[in-house]
Amino acid sequence: MNVTIDLTVNGERHRLEVTPWTTLLELLRETLHLTGTKEGCGLGECGTCVVLVDGSSVNSCLMLALDANGRQITTIEGLASNEELHPLQASFIEKGAVQCGFCTPAMILSAKALLDRNPGASEEEIRRALSGVLCRCGSYTKIIEAVRTVSKEVEDS
Ligand code: FES
Ligand code: FES
Repeated sequence: MNVTIDLTVNGERHRLEVTPWTTLLELLRETLHLTGTKEGCGLGECGTCVVLVDGSSVNSCLMLALDANGRQITTIEGLASNEELHPLQASFIEKGAVQCGFCTPAMILSAKALLDRNPGASEEEIRRALSGVLCRCGSYTKIIEAVRTVSKEVEDS
């Protein structure tokens, strides 16, 4: 038995039929082909599946697609505008904060959720906000530096 849901993903409205057990992660990757959102553990432990739901970071492997009904979802594919990278994306490249890239979408989206509510976030606040996302390459130092560079620009302006 399928359920009909309406949701907005990266500014685009969708009406979709889903099974009651489909996760938001499955919907994004398998139905909408937005494969920037990664599946690591599928159990809520690694954080690589983070997306923004109404602006807050959420582990999409733990959220049912039907609970996304009526919500605004942002994935990494929705961050750049008019071919211009989001400042966090540009900073990750500039600081060399990407190795294999598996954790990068979740790191950037978690950082965006933080900076949207606290644009001048301190290093400590950044560390706390990103603590739910594991980087198997151990790039934490560069990742924190990339986010702090963006928040420091706000602080210095
Ligand atoms: S895949 Fe969702 S937390 Fe690991
Ligand atoms: S860059 Fe490889 S998992 Fe973080």
